[in-house]
Amino acid sequence: MSGRVVILGIYVTDLAFRANRMPLIGETIAGSAFALGPGGKGSNQAVAAARAGAEVVFCTRLGNDAFGEIARSTWQAEGIVARAKVLDGVATGAAHIFVEEGTGRNAIIVAAGAAATMDASDADAIEADISAAQVFVTQLEQPVAAARRGLEIARRHGVATVLNPAPALPLPDDLFPLCDYITPNETEAAALTGIEIRDADDARRAADVLLAKGAGAAIVTLGEAGALLHSRSQSVLVPAFRCGTVVETAGAGDGFTGGFAAALARGAESLEAVRFGCALAGISVTRAGTAPSMPRLAEVQALLGNAAPMRES
Ligand code: RIB
Ligand code: NA
Repeated sequence: MSGRVVILGIYVTDLAFRANRMPLIGETIAGSAFALGPGGKGSNQAVAAARAGAEVVFCTRLGNDAFGEIARSTWQAEGIVARAKVLDGVATGAAHIFVEEGTGRNAIIVAAGAAATMDASDADAIEADISAAQVFVTQLEQPVAAARRGLEIARRHGVATVLNPAPALPLPDDLFPLCDYITPNETEAAALTGIEIRDADDARRAADVLLAKGAGAAIVTLGEAGALLHSRSQSVLVPAFRCGTVVETAGAGDGFTGGFAAALARGAESLEAVRFGCALAGISVTRAGTAPSMPRLAEVQALLGNAAPMRES
């Protein structure tokens, strides 16, 4: 069974600039490389899940422009079913991604463009898709009202819900009980709980707060330290997979969430799905780009097949 995943979020075109450092205000510096490609957390997660073998429906809004065309051709090439409203007179979004030469670390400015106008009606329009899925996923790059309605609809139909609370924002308390799984990174977990995350113990304390707020399980992604799966029945630190030189970490969290959702949708237990997401993300950081760097199912399975068992904690 491949499993169906519905994702609601944004598409933007990523404009990635590599340089030794960021420019200061008023300064111009020369970069070492530039690349343009598909991005946006929701769309990246859709690409990751589709390449991981899920049947994916992606819901967003686009402008009637060249970047919107890149979105559509990307989804078509990946076999993603698009539910995208096209707006006149507003641009498809874009992200400026600074990639630090040498470390692959990044800093991003994202302007959601047309997707910034999303609201609850976008989720209402895909109720039939959501009801036919195993997993519904959303993030916070589009207005939270759209995410909330999507989570509510999924809940009503008994579909598993995943909130990737990115970028880091404080959230209204009544959103947490709608999440079977919440997948913050360190910064996002800190924004949601007020707990600074330096290690797995901090992550566990933050995850406890997220459970107390009503989330079913929290998965705190910790970069090269892996990911903590924390629920009432288990607390396991899944190590990261190192599979080569780190080229670009932008999109790694999307690889994790998309891979996790695809694995859940085909019936994996949550711990197995977290391992799958970690393996997928581990491969993605060794390649340039966000969506273009997502590996295919066979590559992830090969990595998982070769890996040592995880440590229980
Ligand atoms: O998570 C990475 C993504 O965040 C990038 O693709 C960029 O578009 C921003 O939305
Ligand atoms: Na990458």
